[in-house]
Amino acid sequence: MVEPERRILVVYASRTGNTRRLAEAVAAGIEDRLPGTVMLKPVEEVGLEELRACDALAVGSPTYFRDIMDPAKRFLFLAEQAKELEGRPGAAFTTYGWGCDGLPMLLSTMEHILGLRMFKAQLAVKEKASDHDLERARRFGAQFAGFVVSGAEGPAGPGGDDDEAYCPVFRR
Ligand SMILES: Cc1cc2nc3c(=O)[nH]c(=O)nc-3n(C[C@H](O)[C@H](O)[C@H](O)COP(=O)(O)O)c2cc1C
Repeated sequence: MVEPERRILVVYASRTGNTRRLAEAVAAGIEDRLPGTVMLKPVEEVGLEELRACDALAVGSPTYFRDIMDPAKRFLFLAEQAKELEGRPGAAFTTYGWGCDGLPMLLSTMEHILGLRMFKAQLAVKEKASDHDLERARRFGAQFAGFVVSGAEGPAGPGGDDDEAYCPVFRR
């Protein structure tokens, strides 16, 4: 049987490029597993029709002032109008300096307001991603693609053993 065509949106807010680099690696990881499915865009360029039509949504924002970035908030207000997102797979990631509070903010808003079925694995990278971090991000993307296809959680989910994947704010 031919697989139905999927559209996975990977969107990001970024001021100095750290989160954009991470988003590129996440998108590459999804492409590893599901070639030809990914659309990678800054949040400012995403339209409502695109959101309505996507089968899964991954969102990245840096943490500024213990929050997500303003363009990411505007994006979530737009996405709120896309009721079609309800029940579809979602993933969130952040870059941060010391606390990554943006990640729980993003995860909970995507779950409670957009109604997405959130991938529980965490991707939080401190400042500019190292090659090792980019490899983790790529793995996260591939695991999210697995979640999109089968609902399987990645090994970095709560209870997993990928200790460095955890955002410090979840540890408190
Ligand atoms: C003014 C300012 C405020 C920041 N606030 C936070 C913060 O509250 N918590 C945190 O962990 N990092 C904070 N950071 C660090 C950024 O999250 C980090 O540099 C991030 O990787 C930037 O991502 P970007 O390059 O995609 O814009 C802040 C940085 C600046 C310049």
